[in-house]
Amino acid sequence: MKIGAWTAVAMLGLTSVTLAQDGNTLSIDGETIVTEAVAPAHLENLDTIYSGWRFRTSETQALQIDDFDNPAMIFVDQALDLFEAVDGSEGKSCSSCHTDGPEEFAGLHASMPKVVDGKLVVMEDLINSHRQDVMGAEPWKWSGADMQAMVALIGLQSRGTPMDVTIDGDAAPFWEKGKELYYTRFGQLEMSCANCHEDNYGTMIRADHLSQGQINGFPTYRLKQAKLISRHNRFRGCIRDTRAETFAEGSDEFRALELYVASRSNGLHVETPAVRQ
Ligand code: HEC
Ligand code: HEC
Repeated sequence: MKIGAWTAVAMLGLTSVTLAQDGNTLSIDGETIVTEAVAPAHLENLDTIYSGWRFRTSETQALQIDDFDNPAMIFVDQALDLFEAVDGSEGKSCSSCHTDGPEEFAGLHASMPKVVDGKLVVMEDLINSHRQDVMGAEPWKWSGADMQAMVALIGLQSRGTPMDVTIDGDAAPFWEKGKELYYTRFGQLEMSCANCHEDNYGTMIRADHLSQGQINGFPTYRLKQAKLISRHNRFRGCIRDTRAETFAEGSDEFRALELYVASRSNGLHVETPAVRQ
């Protein structure tokens, strides 16, 4: 049975609330993070983009203001140990080659995903290709704790840098595919990403204050799950909520969708690792 999007909206119980926009500054250790920006030119239906942080309760927001309170930082510390740990047949650690530490990767996260040699590459690919090709180590699972901790550690080096992914040139076909997915209605509810995150952001969907679904804070620590959540895991969860079959983490569909969603965040500062409900 298919039901129309508006029935779905009614079924999900969307109600309107006003977005708190004043006195809502995210400042971490004295550094101000931009959580509101003019929408990038390619966005036709939004004038302003907001970080998901702006839609959380003040209790959840507070956890991200101080790194000592941010539960994601435990995982970042674990990733620092992993960075030093020798693994695989070649007897190397990340730091064997990256002797300046993860600081070397400042700015990288803000420009990802990107096309390398005709392939759309996300951070998980870079990490696993190094593990497999140069270390002779087993690849990490996409949403595994080690992998997402490392993605968070590398992402943290770009915190406070504006998201700036490339969408033209080699990236254009991937971006177009991601955009198409974003506007595709999925599942029994026949809802697209845009139906929730573009048309209805700022409203309540059951107990959740609906955001624009930005990914400038990923991987995010979800209080509900008490761990770091990957971007593709979040996409899966959202598609499942429309009662649809979903794509696999690491699939070409989710890579393309990641590029498109990241481009919707262009201009917002990287917040990695963010804290969400
Ligand atoms: C044998 C040496 C070696 C080891 C071990 C190694 N890397 Fe690298 N890595 C490199 C070199 C050389 C580059 C730069 C050239 C390139 O981009 O491939 C690089 C680049 C990178 C980049 C940036 C790529 C870009 O596009 O800017 C990331 C991220 C990275 N490495 C992560 C890691 C992580 C995480 C580990 C441990 C799991 C690791 N590397 C282990 C040699 C190594
Ligand atoms: C039925 C409504 C609905 C649909 C459709 C939906 N989402 Fe979501 N999404 C939510 C809710 C509810 C949340 C949790 C509250 C929030 O952060 O907006 C969420 C959260 C997110 C987040 C986390 C934002 C943050 O700041 O942590 C991302 C990213 C996201 N969605 C992306 C997507 C993408 C991509 C699609 C399409 C594949 C999609 N969503 C489809 C309802 C939806």
